[in-house]
Amino acid sequence: MGCRHARNLHEMVSGSHVVAVADADKGRASAVAAECGGAGVFTDAESLARDDSVEAVVIASPDHTHASLALECVRLGKPVLCEKPLAVSSGEALEVVRAEAALGRKLVRVGFMRRDDPRHARVKRIVDSEEIGRPLLVKGVHRNAAPGPGTTTASVVRNSAVHDFDSARWMMGEEIEAVHALGAATDPASGILDLQTFHLALSGGALAAIEVFVAADYGYEVSAEVVGERGTVRTAPHDSPVVRHRGSISQATDADWLVRFEEAYVMELRRWVGDLRTGKEDGPDAWDGYVSLLAADACVRSLETREPERIEPVEKPSLYAKKGAREIETEKVGGRSL
Ligand SMILES: NC(=O)c1ccc[n+]([C@@H]2O[C@H](COP(=O)([O-])OP(=O)(O)OC[C@H]3O[C@@H](n4cnc5c(N)ncnc54)[C@H](O)[C@@H]3O)[C@@H](O)[C@H]2O)c1
Repeated sequence: MGCRHARNLHEMVSGSHVVAVADADKGRASAVAAECGGAGVFTDAESLARDDSVEAVVIASPDHTHASLALECVRLGKPVLCEKPLAVSSGEALEVVRAEAALGRKLVRVGFMRRDDPRHARVKRIVDSEEIGRPLLVKGVHRNAAPGPGTTTASVVRNSAVHDFDSARWMMGEEIEAVHALGAATDPASGILDLQTFHLALSGGALAAIEVFVAADYGYEVSAEVVGERGTVRTAPHDSPVVRHRGSISQATDADWLVRFEEAYVMELRRWVGDLRTGKEDGPDAWDGYVSLLAADACVRSLETREPERIEPVEKPSLYAKKGAREIETEKVGGRSL
């Protein structure tokens, strides 16, 4: 993911200049740095962040490194785009929220790039326009062809489903109040629940029903459908051409997220770099990273107990008061207020 972000910044995002690349694997960092016009090479990410030539940082190292690197960037007063999840637990994410709140400045953006995916954004615009009336339910499907190395029941929630929790909040403009998660295993002997379903109760009375299946075999797929009082709206299914051949009609599936969200990753960086220049505080922030992990932690508990779990966030610091899932978007499209 870090290679893709570096290449995108170098080739696709005007106003940005990749000055340094860090990876624990020096060869990997050097190869990416060479592709980015001879950027500096570091094996220690903190040293990169502290370097005077670095104005802003993208974190795309493994999940367990995110919170401490984001905190270091906040301490340095440097803006950071941190890949999801912001941390490995809501408690750790809260430390980032508290550090920003103490500083009184939002420096952290979280890589929930579905908000920049044109197919999701079009659905969101229709929801906000009230064309389908009040949104009552969002249904999400998130499938990977095969689980990544080291996948566990909890990592499916914190690393994969965390996208869907943010997406549900953003799409519906409501917070998650309670969750009920259930799981099934394609290989019962492994004990890994690689197919999980989540029912979320949202703060305005709406619902979310999400399927995350990381061993779906046939390919990668992410979709969202919103059911409203007067209609429904769903992300357009596939971009690939429709082939009619030998008695069948078919469309190829996307191989993975790098294909499906190719455009979203570029848009995410363009918006971030653009906002850094204008000082706009749009986009998913540390609070979004924290509450999506609160939902994830509750879902991990729910998968164990098979019982519903409530979500109880700390009081939202005033720094984030203006920022909610719908407030900013609604202002933009001139829709109703919450
Ligand atoms: N938004 C998305 O759609 C999306 C998609 C894929 C991955 N991700 C996120 O991106 C991150 C990276 O995922 P990936 O699939 O690229 O993983 P990866 O294992 O392929 O790459 C991680 C890289 O980080 C390096 N690394 C490990 N520890 C490091 C450290 N302490 N400092 C610097 N470099 C270190 C490794 O050498 C490796 O090159 C994860 O947090 C993942 O959740 C997000």
